[in-house]
Amino acid sequence: MRGLKNLLPLLFLFACFCSEVFIALDTITINEPMRDSATIVSASQNFKLAFFSPVNTSDRYVGIILNIPAQSVVWVANRDDPITDSAGMLTISEDGNAVILNGQKNVLWSSNVANSVANSSAQLLDTGNLVLRDNSNGRILWESFQTPTDTLVRTMKIGVISKNNMIRLTSWRSPSDPSVGNFSFGVDPLQIPEFFIWNHSKPYWRSGPWNGNVFIGIPEMSSAYQNRFDLVTDPNGSEYFTHSFINDLALLYYVLNSSGVLAEKVSYYRDGHSKVAWTSLKSECDVYGKCGPFGSCNPQHSPICICLQGFEPKNKEEWDKGNWTGGCSRKALLQCDRNISARQEGKPDGFLKLANIKIPDFAHLMELLRSATEQDCGNQCLNNCSCIAYAYSTGIGCMYWSSSLIDIQQFSFNGADLHIRVAHTELGFRKNMKAVIASTVVLGLLFLAMSAFCLRKWLTRHRGNKQNAELPLFEEWEASKKESILSDKPEQSKLEELPLYSYETLAIATDTFHLKNKLGTGGFGPVFKGILLSGQKIAVKRLSNSSNQGIKEFMNEVELISKLQHRNLVRLLGCCVEREEKMLIYEYMPNKSLDAYLFDLQKRYLLYWNRRKLIIEGIGRGLLYLHRDSRLKIIHRDLKPSNILLDEELNPKISDFGLARLFGGNQDQANTNRVVGTYGYMAPEYAMKGKFSEKSDVYSFGVLLLEIVSGKKNTSSHDDENDLSLIGYAWKLWNENEAAKLVDPALSDPRVEMEILRYVHVGLLCVQESANDRPNVSNVLSMLNSEIAELPPPKLPAYTARLGSSEGEGSQQSGHSVNDVSLTIIQGR
Ligand SMILES: *[C@@H]1O[C@H](CO)[C@@H](O)[C@H](O)[C@H]1NC(C)=O
Ligand SMILES: *[C@@H]1O[C@H](CO)[C@@H](O)[C@H](O)[C@H]1NC(C)=O
Ligand SMILES: *[C@@H]1O[C@H](CO)[C@@H](O)[C@H](O)[C@H]1NC(C)=O
Ligand SMILES: *[C@@H]1O[C@H](CO)[C@@H](O)[C@H](O)[C@H]1NC(C)=O
Ligand SMILES: *[C@@H]1O[C@H](CO)[C@@H](O)[C@H](O)[C@H]1NC(C)=O
Ligand SMILES: *[C@@H]1O[C@H](CO)[C@@H](O)[C@H](O)[C@H]1NC(C)=O
Ligand SMILES: *[C@@H]1O[C@H](CO)[C@@H](O)[C@H](O)[C@H]1NC(C)=O
Ligand SMILES: *[C@@H]1O[C@H](CO)[C@@H](O)[C@H](O)[C@H]1NC(C)=O
Ligand SMILES: *[C@@H]1O[C@H](CO)[C@@H](O)[C@H](O)[C@H]1NC(C)=O
Repeated sequence: MRGLKNLLPLLFLFACFCSEVFIALDTITINEPMRDSATIVSASQNFKLAFFSPVNTSDRYVGIILNIPAQSVVWVANRDDPITDSAGMLTISEDGNAVILNGQKNVLWSSNVANSVANSSAQLLDTGNLVLRDNSNGRILWESFQTPTDTLVRTMKIGVISKNNMIRLTSWRSPSDPSVGNFSFGVDPLQIPEFFIWNHSKPYWRSGPWNGNVFIGIPEMSSAYQNRFDLVTDPNGSEYFTHSFINDLALLYYVLNSSGVLAEKVSYYRDGHSKVAWTSLKSECDVYGKCGPFGSCNPQHSPICICLQGFEPKNKEEWDKGNWTGGCSRKALLQCDRNISARQEGKPDGFLKLANIKIPDFAHLMELLRSATEQDCGNQCLNNCSCIAYAYSTGIGCMYWSSSLIDIQQFSFNGADLHIRVAHTELGFRKNMKAVIASTVVLGLLFLAMSAFCLRKWLTRHRGNKQNAELPLFEEWEASKKESILSDKPEQSKLEELPLYSYETLAIATDTFHLKNKLGTGGFGPVFKGILLSGQKIAVKRLSNSSNQGIKEFMNEVELISKLQHRNLVRLLGCCVEREEKMLIYEYMPNKSLDAYLFDLQKRYLLYWNRRKLIIEGIGRGLLYLHRDSRLKIIHRDLKPSNILLDEELNPKISDFGLARLFGGNQDQANTNRVVGTYGYMAPEYAMKGKFSEKSDVYSFGVLLLEIVSGKKNTSSHDDENDLSLIGYAWKLWNENEAAKLVDPALSDPRVEMEILRYVHVGLLCVQESANDRPNVSNVLSMLNSEIAELPPPKLPAYTARLGSSEGEGSQQSGHSVNDVSLTIIQGR
């Protein structure tokens, strides 16, 4: 009803005097003020300017409000001076300022432009910015973005704009009182750029330094959360962040609420609902300095605070009571802190490495060459007694600390490595190691190996119940970190290696897996197109629940597969294991799959011979990498045109490699009772007996090659009399010396005919009945390149004779799709 009421006068106006309406809709002039009952709407309807009352109060305020059902107030003009009745008015004063007047015409709020001009107007822009313009030249005199309240929207600036102009968000006092509250959000000009929330003037939360890409103190900011902000600096001293993401589906903004929590909110245009995607306060540990100096906070521990290794509570009694503010102090003096005479005997200090850390506040940048390594940072720090800790981060360089270490948090993923200086006696494990080695040298090499092995075992066993901060700097530890992490918390630990996307992120990207974003379906599950908030396009494969693997094994496999990188393989960007869901995130391929071109009456002409040659070679290279050059040996087992995706330049990329592995088929065995593949592309020994090898992929490659050359599907009939498959037809023509008839008419060019015939020959070699007769991929590539001049005559290929009708059907399911897989399960015999 309400919507209709709003709409009617609008439509009416529209019909009458369109040109004037447009001005009136988003603009306030001296002659057209805005009264309490009126609303000003920005041109594309995203934001509106209106009078409103917060909850539990009848006071009236003028604010900019998100113009979707989840009405969020984005900005408040008269936040400290409410109007007590509905007689208020927003207008332009005689001196050209935007002002809010109450019923008695008292000015409650003014834009306060000192050198305002007499002729000006205020306009609400589509960004949610209210600007006051000089009508004579369009110059902007004032804008609401200069004085934000508690909300950061797109294109707003937060930080140091110029020497005397710092822009911060300030919280409301309470949900019913928009006046300036206790908390503010901004950038500390004295530090490496990072966000702070202050409670009055005391820090309450910090984001950790900006590394040019993300804030390293916000672990969730890796991968999907990347690049929400941009840092702008210039020599004039300005240093501010803006966020500039555009997403067609949703508006993303940040609100600092009255309890000092910054939340990232997403509001959907479609149905207007909004949700919190991230908050600054996920646990007590996010409160600045929770554990005091030299204390480290781990939300997964109880109690959450521990002292860093080599430190002990300053006030044991208070500490045990849970009052951690006093922090910790050193157990043993640093060599640096001892006097000169003693120093001569003392052993040098060392560094303990703590991994996955929110690095402490007050980091300084070490003046080193830009190319300095972590090692250089360490050396520099060791040689300077005022350096008590260092960390290295790509994008920032060497950071060091010289006073106390405050606001350290132990993350379970991401974060940085922090190296803290401790006295030599605190480097306990290192000493033990030396002792072990010293004794074993005497006893010989064999014993050395054994004790190292035992020590390692011991460490592995004891690692689980050690607190993180106590983990020693130790090569062994590094080496076996992976396995220990895996056994502890599989879901989180892998984040380091493989980006994990949250279900939320993917739901936003795919519009909650909306049907319109579906690219196709295969045996392993449907594939959706998605757009991340960063604008990056992705393909999300939602795996069906048929895998019986545990999460740990699944993550392991996915991680291994994600390491396979080759320009002819589709890149796996990450995965998501959440809410019973398993999803794989791939790069998005705009040109769909090979079958969409090859078997399309028009598009096939785009694939002229040289392009097809490149595609065949590319597939061969990708396959060679899977078989031979990657760390794992992977047999694809389902090569077919719909699994060959094409990038912008129509370069081929093999997709779905390794999925057979994920789904229970063991790559090291040559026999499986789960046959994954598609009829028409499966080698006979694989389809019949479940025996697979490189050569079964070569068979599929051969079919693919013949299809690319002929532009025909193997699985449809090509010879009316004999009902032959493409392979059978090719064999027949080959023996009749008529192979040229096989070639796609779209390729008719006598100059390349010899070359094409060579490809047909190689294709026939690949599909020979006996796996032993087929060349391997490396040979295939050499043959195609004419490096092997003399090709052996092909022997009888498999499946030459008849084309079973039922089997023919089974192959039709693929269609045009991206990342499509068909899964056929046949019991092995
Ligand atoms: C509004 O007032 C009611 C009743 O006093 C109270 O229960 C509610 O929590 C208040 N809401 C807010 C947001 O303060
Ligand atoms: C204000 O400026 C505009 C544009 O220059 C002009 O059309 C308008 O007449 C001016 N109004 C007044 C009151 O001076
Ligand atoms: C903010 O600081 C004030 C004192 O300055 C304190 O009373 C209040 O508890 C603090 N708020 C939080 C959430 O820490
Ligand atoms: C630096 O400041 C001057 C004067 O304030 C201004 O004209 C110039 O545009 C500024 N430079 C940048 C890069 O913003
Ligand atoms: C502020 O946000 C946090 C986290 O979303 C929430 O727990 C808290 O209740 C909010 N405070 C107010 C006053 O709304
Ligand atoms: C704001 O600070 C005052 C003290 O200055 C404190 O009494 C009040 O509880 C604080 N409010 C919040 C929401 O922290
Ligand atoms: C917490 O401990 C510090 C000393 O470490 C003390 O000064 C402070 O009063 C204690 N606070 C509370 C609430 O007990
Ligand atoms: C300096 O060293 C001497 C001998 O080791 C010791 O007696 C003395 O107390 C030390 N002085 C300080 C200030 O630590
Ligand atoms: C040691 O570090 C301090 C900063 O904490 C610096 O001022 C000093 O120059 C450094 N000394 C040397 C010898 O590098």
